[in-house]
Parts: sequence; structure tokens; C-alpha cells
Amino acid sequence: MGPSQHPTPHSSMAIIGAQWGDEGKGKIVDYLAAKCDYVVRFQGGNNAGHTIVIEGKKIVLHLIPSGILHPRCVSVIGHGVVFDPQAFVEELNDTESAIGQSLGRFQDRLRISSNCPVITSYNKLLDTLRESQGPIKIGTTGKGIGPAYEDKISRKGIKLKDLLDRDILKEKLKQNLVEKIPLFEHLYGVSYPAVSDEVERLYGLGKILRPFLSDAFSLIDEALKNGKRVLFEGAQGILLDIDYGSYPFVTSSNTSIGGIYTGAISPGRPVEEVLGIAKAYTTRVGEGPFPTELTCAMGDLIQQKGHEFGATTGRRRRCGWLDLPLLKYTVKASNLTSLALTKLDVLSGMDTLKICHGHEYRGKTLTCSTPEIDLNKAKPLYKDCRPFRDTFEGDTLSDELKSYIATIEDFVGIPVGIIGFGPGRDQIRFMRDYL
Ligand code: IMP
Repeated sequence: MGPSQHPTPHSSMAIIGAQWGDEGKGKIVDYLAAKCDYVVRFQGGNNAGHTIVIEGKKIVLHLIPSGILHPRCVSVIGHGVVFDPQAFVEELNDTESAIGQSLGRFQDRLRISSNCPVITSYNKLLDTLRESQGPIKIGTTGKGIGPAYEDKISRKGIKLKDLLDRDILKEKLKQNLVEKIPLFEHLYGVSYPAVSDEVERLYGLGKILRPFLSDAFSLIDEALKNGKRVLFEGAQGILLDIDYGSYPFVTSSNTSIGGIYTGAISPGRPVEEVLGIAKAYTTRVGEGPFPTELTCAMGDLIQQKGHEFGATTGRRRRCGWLDLPLLKYTVKASNLTSLALTKLDVLSGMDTLKICHGHEYRGKTLTCSTPEIDLNKAKPLYKDCRPFRDTFEGDTLSDELKSYIATIEDFVGIPVGIIGFGPGRDQIRFMRDYL
């Protein structure tokens, strides 16, 4: 596949996880951000973890868009993001000291929608209580993400703009707490922060946040209207989408393309290029179905070779072969236009290489598996692929690797435009132009 198939790089582009998250979106966003005017987060919160390695230095971003590492790029947090002010301030300080820039410079190029829902102490407490004592264990990150989205949907949420007025904040927090008190006191039997303490905490953080707050919607709308280069940075992956994912083992936002149109911009200015990021194999962190999971030595080998530990929680990721019927579904569910295939270095040099090309389910063979089915009962059908030994340094791709990539492209019907061989910004190979 050559660039001639895609002659015109687009000016707006989304980067979306095509599996269960942790596909390596951060380094691709970081790379492409260098060409962008704006990088926009539109969903999720600090449950995300984007690890970027620059000049051997590891930087993990949870809430701040990866564009922050590029001086000419403005990073924007759209109203679809649930925002933990305390976590943000800590991350800002950490990032600042890691890359040696002053808070002042960040302030100029980091805009946060004042319409973002706030993650309160109550949300975080509820998240951890449910995980430890509730009826279903999802394996959440414990950051209060689900409960904060619940507050938003039930119209009891606190918005960032509320942090700027102590009286409004107090009134809203009081209303917000009414239904939670019986849960804390009677269902879980725990103590919880007094409203007055939470007001002071959040109001204090509001003062730090004030210079960053803005009308992010209008900012991006104008930028798109004026032909600026805008990159939308997804968090998690499509199989964790609240509507398109493996419910209930999902996160509470729309991680798929729709999240952009509810969390940042209007569909009147559609994103032109939607790049799905997929690992060359599959991983999942937390609970839930995983048809191609390898609970054998091969799974351990991939886990160790790929250093598969969650960037946010440090949990060991479950590992398995690439699942094409699920990938075909996520391509459709987000209208992906091309794929980036990451972590090929992990599979390189292995003696065995398999790929799942079908699910046996209730007497049928499925080649595109949607969450309509019970994924726990989907039996993966594998075909052997010829192992490859490519490294990033090689000038050309081996026939074996070309064939692995062609198998994926033929199956899902979109091209692989990027391949990744390691964690560094400089270990990505572009097979076409983006932005
Ligand atoms: P929550 O987003 O913390 O509510 O967690 C819900 C599910 O999404 C759990 O299975 C988490 O492990 C998973 N999850 C959340 N964020 C990420 C991520 O950035 N990468 C991978 N899995 C995630």
C-alpha cells in the first residue's frame, strides 16, 4: 500500500483505540501532534494512561492531552471528559518537572471546558466501595469515572464552572449528596467527607484552574471552520465503550467515534480521518470476556515481552492473539478509515504466531462479532501465520510480516497505515501520510 491511495492528508483526525485500550495511542498522538494546531480529549478522565518515551525519559499522561509535549500545539479538554481537579494539578506539576517547562507556558496552550463534569471525593469513594463490596466487580481504575458520569446523566453533577462560586458549589454539592448519604451510611457503613470540607477543597482547586477554563466547544468549532489541524485523542478502546463495548465490563463513556460529537464538537464538522490503533495481539485489563485470552506460557511470554502492566493502576494485563472478528466489529462501530498496528516487536522472533479469524458461536462461525453475542461463549478459531523476525532498523518488511499485515487488511477491509515496533516516538513507521 503506498501513499498514492491516500493522496490528500486531512486536517481533522481522530485516534481511537480499536480494542480494550492500551493499544499505544499516546505515542502516535504525540508523534502526530507535532503537525497539529490542536489536540483534543473528548471522553474518559484520568482512568487513561498514555505512556510516552522521549529521549529515554518516560512520561505518563492521564488527563492532559498528549499535545502538551509540543510547544506550538494547543491542548484542549472537551466537555465530555470527567475531570478530577486534584489529579490534574498533580499531573501538571509532574509533567512540568519531567519536561522542564513552567506552568505559565502550559497555561497558554492548555484549555479546559468549564462545562466538564467534576469527579468529586464522593464519586471516588463510591467507585472503590462498589469494586470491593458491590454486586459486580468490573475491575475499574478506582478513579471515580463511572459515578461521575452517573451524576452527569442524572443531572446532579458538579461542573467545573461551579468551582468558581463557593455558594453555588455548596448548594450543588448538598443536593448531590442527598441520595449518596444512605449508601455511605447504611449500605456500606463508611464515613465520608463533610460537604463543607469538600466545598473548600474544590473551591481551592477552582482558583488554580480558573486560568485554564474556557469555552472549548467554540474554540474547536472555530478552529475546524478555519481549516486548522485538529487531532482528537481517544482514551481506552471501542470494546470498552458504554454502548458499543462488552457491557457491563466497560468504562462509562463513549470511547468510539460518537464520543467526539457529544464530548467536543458537533457532527456538522465531521472528523475526516479516523485512525484505529490496534496492538498486533490483544490485551485487556480488568474483568470481562476475552475470547482469545492465553492463560498458558504463551500468554505469559507476551505479557512479559510486551511489559503488559496498566499505566494507571500497574495491574498485569491479560494477553492473547489478535482477534479479527472483534477488530472487524470495531472498524464498523467507529467507521475507522485506517489502522495503526503497534507492538510488532513483541511478536517478532516468536516461534509460533496465530491469529483468530472466526468465532464459533452457537453452531455458527462468526467473522464479525458484536456485543449482541455472549463473548464468554465465543470459541476462537485460529490460523497459523508465518512467524516474522523484523526489527525497526530493517529497511524493508519481510514477506512474513507483509503477509501478517495483509491478512489483517483483507479481513477488516481497511489499510494499515502505521506500524509500531516499540515504545519510542521514533519507533513508528508510516506507510502513508497523515495530517
Ligand atoms: P473505569 O474506566 O475506571 O470505570 O474502569 C472500567 C473498565 O475500563 C475496567 O475494566 C478498566 O480496567 C478499564 N479501563 C479504564 N481505563 C482504561 C485504560 O486506559 N486502558 C485499559 N483499560 C481501561
